Amino acid sequence: MVLSFTHGIILGFAAGFILVLVILNESSYSLSFVSRFTKINLYQRSNIRRMINTSYDDNQVFVFPDECPLVRAYLDVVRDTVCGLALRTREHTFGYDNQIHPMDINQRIKGLDWPLIGVTMIGQKRLINIEWALRFVIANEVSGDFIECGVWRGGSSIFARAVLKALNNKDKHVWLADSFQGLPKARTKNDNDNWSKMEYLKVSLEEVQENFRSFNLLDNHVHFCKGYFVDSLPRCNISQIAVLRMDGDMYESTMDQLFNLYSKLQLGGVIIIDDYAITECKRAIHDFRSWHNITDKIQLIPGDQIGRYWIKGQNIEVQRNRYIPLISSTKHYTQ
Ligand SMILES: C[S@@+](CC[C@H](N)C(=O)[O-])C[C@H]1O[C@@H](n2cnc3c(N)ncnc32)[C@H](O)[C@@H]1O
Repeated sequence: MVLSFTHGIILGFAAGFILVLVILNESSYSLSFVSRFTKINLYQRSNIRRMINTSYDDNQVFVFPDECPLVRAYLDVVRDTVCGLALRTREHTFGYDNQIHPMDINQRIKGLDWPLIGVTMIGQKRLINIEWALRFVIANEVSGDFIECGVWRGGSSIFARAVLKALNNKDKHVWLADSFQGLPKARTKNDNDNWSKMEYLKVSLEEVQENFRSFNLLDNHVHFCKGYFVDSLPRCNISQIAVLRMDGDMYESTMDQLFNLYSKLQLGGVIIIDDYAITECKRAIHDFRSWHNITDKIQLIPGDQIGRYWIKGQNIEVQRNRYIPLISSTKHYTQ
């Protein structure tokens, strides 16, 4: 059929219109992430205020505009593998009754169970929070490294290393602090000894390193600080922190992390509290914040009920005198 001149014009306009729609759709898709991550001058007070209230939505797709689509695909696979979701036909839950049960996918997404095969227990939503935090500090040029205190099998730190590697970030290192022999006995009346009896939480340094190797992610950007926090964190060589992830469950473990590391967290850096739902941990957070007049907004992790985070908007002088009663009366545990 031969098209008339008028038909040709109409078809041309229609094709052009569709092309414009496609381009607009593509750019708004990638901009939906980027619009929250425009660079901010950290030293302007008003901008710090804007920055510390930054949050994200549960359904947001994290992609920088110039990013290869395979980065998103790779990170989705690593994330769901470390938490055991990708292995769902084989994966099970190790119950608090010491028995093995079928995995409940919804529990795993929220990090509410102990994986049998998976190498992190924090679940999918808190893993997404790690990726968000790393992208946030990169986009805002916050200097410093990622550290996780309390790593168990190492899966969430493995994912942190995967994010930095996939984004081709060469500045930021990943640090793992743990006793690599489980939780300590209580030093004060703030805690009890129950945690120290949990055999399932005792994972050796060698096993964590082997887990890193299995993802081909054990390299010179990964460092280990071994020992109970009260001894190991003062000696840990990390100088500046951009993302501080705390997962030590107990009051004292949380305080050891805050007193030794909070002053290294840079302005605009992200502090993540995995165990906010545990009474002792939550009390430590609020004691530390009130002793130091920290008012940065505590934010919910989208889709998760357990963890929280805040963005550091004010520098504080750490009051060591508040820490002395927590360490002076007890022996140290150096191995
Ligand atoms: C709940 S697990 C951490 C889970 C881990 N973040 C994950 O991704 O699965 C708690 C970890 O904290 C460590 N831990 C707790 N308190 C500690 C302390 N005071 N010193 C050293 N390690 C500690 C334990 O050895 C254990 O590996």
